[in-house]
Amino acid sequence: MTAIQASRTEDAAAVVHVDADQSVSCDPRNPAFFNNPYPAYDLMRDLGPCFLWRDYDHWCFAGYDLVNAILRDRRFGREFRRTPDEPAAPSPPEHLREFYAFEAQSLLEREPPEHTRLRRLINRAFVSRQILSLRPRIEALAHELIDRFIDQAQVDLLPAFAEKIPVIVIADLIGVPRQMADQLLAWSHAMVAMYEFKRDQAIENAAERATTEFSAYIGDLIAERRRAPRDDLLSHLVSVSDHGEELADEEVVTTTILLLNAGHEATVHALGNSVFCLLREGAVDAVDWSNEAAVARACEELIRFDAPLHMFTRFVLEDLEIGGRAFRRGETVGVLLGAANRDGAKYAEPHRLDFARGGEGNTSFGAGIHFCVGAPLARLEMAVALPVLLERLPGLRLATEPQYADRYHFHGLSGLQLTWD
Ligand code: HEM
Repeated sequence: MTAIQASRTEDAAAVVHVDADQSVSCDPRNPAFFNNPYPAYDLMRDLGPCFLWRDYDHWCFAGYDLVNAILRDRRFGREFRRTPDEPAAPSPPEHLREFYAFEAQSLLEREPPEHTRLRRLINRAFVSRQILSLRPRIEALAHELIDRFIDQAQVDLLPAFAEKIPVIVIADLIGVPRQMADQLLAWSHAMVAMYEFKRDQAIENAAERATTEFSAYIGDLIAERRRAPRDDLLSHLVSVSDHGEELADEEVVTTTILLLNAGHEATVHALGNSVFCLLREGAVDAVDWSNEAAVARACEELIRFDAPLHMFTRFVLEDLEIGGRAFRRGETVGVLLGAANRDGAKYAEPHRLDFARGGEGNTSFGAGIHFCVGAPLARLEMAVALPVLLERLPGLRLATEPQYADRYHFHGLSGLQLTWD
């Protein structure tokens, strides 16, 4: 065992406890875990194809092949439809009525045929050709944001840059005024906090309030677009719902909110984690930032190396066997995207940034029918923002050692204080 491997094993043993039955206890809120989950993932992967993660109380998969296979396997799904002879699902608590009504309409939580119908309606807006035309606007925005802080000695890149780019770009695309950006962030943060490990009633109340206010706001905007359509995604969705009868008004509201939330919650951390990893690994000069193809490969490797979203779940839709274990219909399984991306069976020296491999086949955007609809947009935002940042701020370096936030599901920094020459 090399010295690096030995220290990784020690790191993992400090945060993961493996019981005699090979089940795992690992608190996702332990800073030693969420600041660097990769040694723990190595240990989890070594246990076999799957393991019971006691803190979540479901079975998880950490190896590349099975994570990738489950995401593509239609015997697993985001939505579990009960048959009449199965016990009914418990009804959502009254204080979360709006939130669950939102989720029930969400593309991310549906399976075909509804998923196919909803996804077709927005796919066109997100195809690469359409998205690539946004390049000049994203570049101008990156410069504008840097202009605002370049005279300071130091900046927290997250609020000043990494958060602003995705929220403004997605707001522009949908047709929500830019001055709403901070409000959108507040609503969105309150809603996605629902996916945190062990949420409390305060989080639930805030999510319910945010869903109600956000839905009412989008409802008003829909009425405006109906009166006076514009060249934006919201007008497109409204006209589809008016003419094709394919999209109910509540579905327009939900789809718009989903796109606004998903459109920035992960990309902010893709940007933050990438800048941090580049600086920490001393890898800035390993990329020719003036070469578009090299930049695209570097961004993809960065998104493999430190993905912003680490765990997604699926319902088992029929009794089946996978990874040497039998699963029953209705069970939940977790797929660990961040672990799959560091699997040595897929990537040689997985814990090394290797821009030549270009993150090939990484699972950070998922796979199968739920593959991230915004991937072309997120990739473009990274490919435009990173070169502008590095060009404008020569000698960029960490001003303080950043910490990851206590939000395992969204693997991202709580702040990123930088300074430059
Ligand atoms: C680096 C940034 C991003 C990452 C890492 C990311 C990751 C993901 C992942 C892993 C999924 C699949 C979830 C699953 O299989 O259960 C997903 C789905 C989705 N993403 Fe992203 N995403 C990013 C940016 C975006 C952006 C910019 C948008 C919007 C424009 C977006 C919109 C969506 C939507 C709507 C879905 C649901 C797709 C479906 O269920 O068919 N994402 N994303």
